[in-house]
Amino acid sequence: MDKERKLIIAGNWKMNKTVAESLDLANGLVRELKDVTEVDIAICPPFTALSEVSKVVIDSNIRLGAQNMSENDYGAHTGEIAAGMLKEFSAKYVILGHSERRQYQRESDELVAAKAKAAHETGLKPIVCVGEQLEDRESGRTEEIVGSQVRGSVAGLTADQMEGTVVAYEPVWAIGTGKTATSAQAQEVHAFIRNLLGDIFDEDTAVRVRIQYGGSVKPDNARELMGQADVDGALVGGASLEVRKFSEIILNSI
Ligand code: PGA
Repeated sequence: MDKERKLIIAGNWKMNKTVAESLDLANGLVRELKDVTEVDIAICPPFTALSEVSKVVIDSNIRLGAQNMSENDYGAHTGEIAAGMLKEFSAKYVILGHSERRQYQRESDELVAAKAKAAHETGLKPIVCVGEQLEDRESGRTEEIVGSQVRGSVAGLTADQMEGTVVAYEPVWAIGTGKTATSAQAQEVHAFIRNLLGDIFDEDTAVRVRIQYGGSVKPDNARELMGQADVDGALVGGASLEVRKFSEIILNSI
């Protein structure tokens, strides 16, 4: 597949996998994907498995990501984890503002923006998630909602930092439901996001930002989704928990 932007496919393991299970999955992926150079690959295990998984992937083509981080560098923030601590495990990416955190932990765009800034300042690349709820889509408010999430969540980034940020468009109604956005629906919102980034930053920055699609990505729909002009990768939940499925998504996307 010939695209200017290199695809980035990341697995979001969410709150799944013990350390032993994480090692099995990571070892299997290293084996299956060792020859892939066309796609940037990342896996985002739970915090508790980062240390062990980092040893498995360190010399491979698979990069490590975390699923969240604090906007603070250190100090009295019980239960929180700072970007610098993630760097200790050679993490390269961090997922920020996932819809589950927006919904259950009440994360705001403002908080996501502060985390994204802190991630860049520590040398981590944020994967900033946005996406509308079903009722937003049904009432024709997709662009309004996604647009305001994008604006709020990248506020304060420099153009260089934006270029190194991955945006993940994940319609909430498609997450874990088996309902995927059609490739046309995905492309429409991705193009909207890219245009908006052009307005907020500049055209050159906007054409370089990678925008992932997320929401029930599977081996059999990956190719068509990745084939869309403004779809530059995938953020995969459920199907990233099995070696075969996650590998096939990547291999089918090349
Ligand atoms: P899903 O999750 O692939 O299970 O729909 C995607 C995500 O939440 O990142």
